[in-house]
Amino acid sequence: MDRNSLTIRDNRSGKEVTLPIIEGSEGPPVVDVSNIFKDFGLFTLDPGFRSTASCQSEITFIDGDQGILLHRGYPIEQLAEKSNYLEVCYLLIFGHLPTQAEFTEFKNLVTHHTMVHEQLQKFYQGFRRDAHPMAIMVGVVGALSSFYHEALDVEDAHHREIAAYRLLSKMPTLAAFSYKYAVGQPFMYPQNRLCFVENFLHMMFAVPCESYHVSPVLVQAMEKIMILHADHEQNASTSTVRLAGSSLANPFAAVSAGIGALWGPAHGGANEAVLGMLGEIGDPDRIGEYIRRAKDPQDSFRLMGFGHRVYKNYDPRAKILRAAAHQVLQELDRTDDPRLKIALKLERIALEDDYFVKKKLYPNVDFYSGLILSAIGIPTNMFTVIFALARSVGWISQWMEMMAEKGQSIGRPRQLYTGAKKRDYIPIENRG
Ligand code: SDX
Repeated sequence: MDRNSLTIRDNRSGKEVTLPIIEGSEGPPVVDVSNIFKDFGLFTLDPGFRSTASCQSEITFIDGDQGILLHRGYPIEQLAEKSNYLEVCYLLIFGHLPTQAEFTEFKNLVTHHTMVHEQLQKFYQGFRRDAHPMAIMVGVVGALSSFYHEALDVEDAHHREIAAYRLLSKMPTLAAFSYKYAVGQPFMYPQNRLCFVENFLHMMFAVPCESYHVSPVLVQAMEKIMILHADHEQNASTSTVRLAGSSLANPFAAVSAGIGALWGPAHGGANEAVLGMLGEIGDPDRIGEYIRRAKDPQDSFRLMGFGHRVYKNYDPRAKILRAAAHQVLQELDRTDDPRLKIALKLERIALEDDYFVKKKLYPNVDFYSGLILSAIGIPTNMFTVIFALARSVGWISQWMEMMAEKGQSIGRPRQLYTGAKKRDYIPIENRG
């Protein structure tokens, strides 16, 4: 009997089945249940996928108990301190840190794909000016595929790489356009002389009537924000991209589906919700009322920016963002932001409160990011767009990894059926 196995017994029939246990390079091993229906006639049930590994991946490792996050083996703390977003993009996509020559080539390719088809600007005109920018992003990113029909054969590795560059390069342009459209300012074209993050901030805040110098403080803060949001294993939006891509849908459609999933306040929409919550609390003296509501099982209110499906310790990204928030607000002379004071007091009270301690609810990546984005001048309804912009490389790298897999097949979960048993149709005139 292979030691690396799990034997289960169906007590109804007395039948036993031995399932292989597969070890990874880090983290819990998995039991392979892919044949359990064939061998046992049973499905496994795991709503919310709390105990389910959906794939094998070499990209990101998370240890929720230790608060560890590695990208291709590199600790997030080191990448946030020493790297830049575009280099992390290279690392996530290609699996190693680039040499100078590799990075120069990668940077040139990305820089020269940042423009979008002039016709695409007209898509924005169809939205109301007060449309949520995430609604716009879901639409325009999916629509990008309509400009590239000649290179959408997802089973062709070269087509996949071209699409990856196009998505990575054009997301900043589309994101900045969604902001400019909302504020009624002209769209700003990418500037090839600027680096990736600088270029995005320039497209966001420059206007045609005068030159705009992007502050290095803002660039550094945005680099950190984007590195910390780049990828995060099989979260809801990444799993959405994988499932959509598994049907051989084109990557623009798959990423558009991921943007939709990220929008939810339980996921990437939390950063916008945190600022709304801090604003609603309004006064540090009212924190107790909201802590009580968060603990009340009858109240649907949750402390936005707290809790995580995987981290049962401090989200390592939140730790880095906490320090960055202080630094950025200091450098931008915004330490008087009342929401920072409320956030710090809320964090302290929550971390000492028995309810949060017992349920291992710690601040997550969304708790501090909004304070930094707000200090940079990003409006609240753009926070999740920034998250989508940063996470696009995670979606792209995970999609590329899936599509390169031998034997890749469509994801199609089953169910436990609890509906009506077979019954005959009753003509309407005979119904009671
Ligand atoms: C992101 O998956 C990822 O990696 C996501 C992400 C990424 O980078 O992709 O890290 C980004 O989405 C971060 C999470 C952002 N969301 C929020 O901040 C929203 C607030 N948090 C919660 O909605 C919640 O914590 C989740 C959705 C994040 C996690 O939900 P789980 O794992 O399903 O946990 P749960 O809802 O089962 O909660 C466990 C218990 C429950 O109490 P009981 O039913 O056991 O009595 O903790 C309670 C919950 O009521 N709880 C909270 C709470 N979060 C959980 N109570 C108050 N406030 C909260 N924030």
